[in-house]
Amino acid sequence: MTANTYVGAIDQGTTGTRFIIFDHRGQVVANAYEKHEQIYPEPGWVEHDPMEIWENTKAVTTQALSQAEISPDQLEAIGVTNQRETTVLWDADTGKPVHNAIVWQDRRTTERVEQLEEDGMTETIRSKTGLEPDAYFAATKAEWLLEEGDPIKMERARPEDVQDRAKSGDVLFGTIDSWLIYNLTGNHITEVTNASRTMLYNIHDLEWDDELLEEFGIPREMLPEVRPSSDENTYGTTDPDGFLEAEVPVAGALGDQQAALFGQTCFDAGDAKNTYGTGSFFLMNTGDEAVTSDHGLLTTIGFQRSGEPVQYALEGSIFVTGAAIEWLEDVDLIDDPSETAELARSVDSTDGVYVVPAFTGLGAPHWDQRARGTIVGMTRGTRKEHLVRATLESIAYQTRDVAEAMEADSGIEMTSLKVDGGAVKNNFLCQLQSDIIGSEIVRPIVDETTALGSAYAAGLAVGYWNDLEELRDNWRVDREFEPEMDRDLADRRYDRWADAVDRARDWARDGD
Ligand code: G3P
Repeated sequence: MTANTYVGAIDQGTTGTRFIIFDHRGQVVANAYEKHEQIYPEPGWVEHDPMEIWENTKAVTTQALSQAEISPDQLEAIGVTNQRETTVLWDADTGKPVHNAIVWQDRRTTERVEQLEEDGMTETIRSKTGLEPDAYFAATKAEWLLEEGDPIKMERARPEDVQDRAKSGDVLFGTIDSWLIYNLTGNHITEVTNASRTMLYNIHDLEWDDELLEEFGIPREMLPEVRPSSDENTYGTTDPDGFLEAEVPVAGALGDQQAALFGQTCFDAGDAKNTYGTGSFFLMNTGDEAVTSDHGLLTTIGFQRSGEPVQYALEGSIFVTGAAIEWLEDVDLIDDPSETAELARSVDSTDGVYVVPAFTGLGAPHWDQRARGTIVGMTRGTRKEHLVRATLESIAYQTRDVAEAMEADSGIEMTSLKVDGGAVKNNFLCQLQSDIIGSEIVRPIVDETTALGSAYAAGLAVGYWNDLEELRDNWRVDREFEPEMDRDLADRRYDRWADAVDRARDWARDGD
């Protein structure tokens, strides 16, 4: 490490792509961002164009380097972090996708998942992958692409051709990390945390699972090699004749929620973080032990460093939190998310109104694909301030739902929770969160913890950082929020929230 070298991180998220350059203190030196198109071919379907994502990745990387006047050879390594579960199939000859990527939020395989449940596959999937069968994960998306991918959108193939070419390894499968690593280095590789979100990977044996591959009709030949999240052997280097014109090692990758866990330095069992984005993802490190959840959480891989055992995590995946604020904007209750704190603060309470934003069903801990958004408790006196406050409270209540499940599964009482993501700039929300879960909420100075986590993974692999202690020293508190609300009142309101959730459950029927 020299004074003028850095580590870069590609943060490929659901709505856009970022390249951030970090210095040795873990501080942001440059940050460039591009949005990409959200494609909705049918209700409930969500796709991205993988070529657009790759073009944006190159653009933001070059923009960030020129912003900071850094040359590519000053980058000691690049890390990758990504929206998880989103699935791409591409042709190894042309390097082009055979179809748009199917995004994690896509619900087209809901019925296939219900079929799996009817076929008695639930326990097999839970015990091997740590996941709850759901259209959220990559397996049924890849199966759909192989069986029903629209041939018109494919470069030159009918679905049967794609299946044949997949069997010979000429059509490849990957999540977004894998797609980007392939384009950056030419190597077909993924890493353990992303593999653990496919519903095809046995998280105990650390292998693609033959029984599940057969169930979903996925040929092993099309799967990437699975590597540690921080890999001293590196995944490969960028092409000196490519867009960067430099040979930079790509040495770390993590699914974005695991990257935030790593960036928040949650390295030890019991450390937990909650990231508030489109949805919220609450992860607790459980160390070497894959803790099985009895309360609706997922068991997932947290991270792995070269030569070290896999570290597991419990995860509460909440599908809609920040997206509920976007909804307030869509229906013209607010002009901008920054107004929500003031509006909510202008009333003492929601006056008994509860908003359950189950727009795409409910994730953890309920796992109800047919729940739908519900507002209860309105009176003639209900004003938009109450609805805005109730929407913010729904974020905090959903977090309490998973926090309670987390405590019950792990047996660890949570006294403090690290938070990150766009919404934690809202002090009102942070205080509300602390009041409702009854724990301290800790917000760090660097809020780009997702990108930071993947930079750390890559930088550790190439010796830019020496050990975890160095990374812990970089972590700094911005602000702590202590519970102020009377505990009985918080519990009473939380009980009413549970009643409201009951009303939202199992609402959608076929065709709704
Ligand atoms: O599991 C989905 C999650 O990885 C998406 O994260 O931040 O891109 O919405 P984000």
